[in-house]
Amino acid sequence: MSELTVLLHPDPRLKKTCIPVTNIDKSIKKLCLDMIETMYKYSGVGLAASQVGILKRVVVMDCSEEGEKKPKVLINPEIIWSSEDVSLFEEGCLSIPDIREEIKRPSSVRIKFTDISGVLKEDFFEGLWATCIQHEIDHLNGKLFIDYLGPIKRSFITKKMKKYKKEINKK
Ligand code: NI
Repeated sequence: MSELTVLLHPDPRLKKTCIPVTNIDKSIKKLCLDMIETMYKYSGVGLAASQVGILKRVVVMDCSEEGEKKPKVLINPEIIWSSEDVSLFEEGCLSIPDIREEIKRPSSVRIKFTDISGVLKEDFFEGLWATCIQHEIDHLNGKLFIDYLGPIKRSFITKKMKKYKKEINKK
């Protein structure tokens, strides 16, 4: 397995709609494993393929308690049901480090997806898992969690990120 480079906002690739995976071949399986490794490396709870520059509908996540490891791979994930009640969670993103904002989303969702062995599945998510899968599916559609914020807050964060990217590029 190898660790992948996580793209930082702003980056045009993070705004792109990802295409469905039609064939789960060796390269997709390797991508999933590399994404899991990368997610753990940066202590993230989820990662979408667009965040590593691959514009395909692949998500990995693990919202289990610290010390436990229950990685999940979701290929072509789709929300087929979402609850009327909503939850507020403080969200962060590996593409927007050190920024956390409270975002309101449906509290629970049902997701249709294909697993890493190519089996079509359905799963129910609630709590942090529900927020996380919605955040990741947004990535596949070119949407970031800061897009839910007001324009002033969003442009403040983008400016801060541009400055941060300049600084790390100097090193
Ligand atoms: Ni994210």
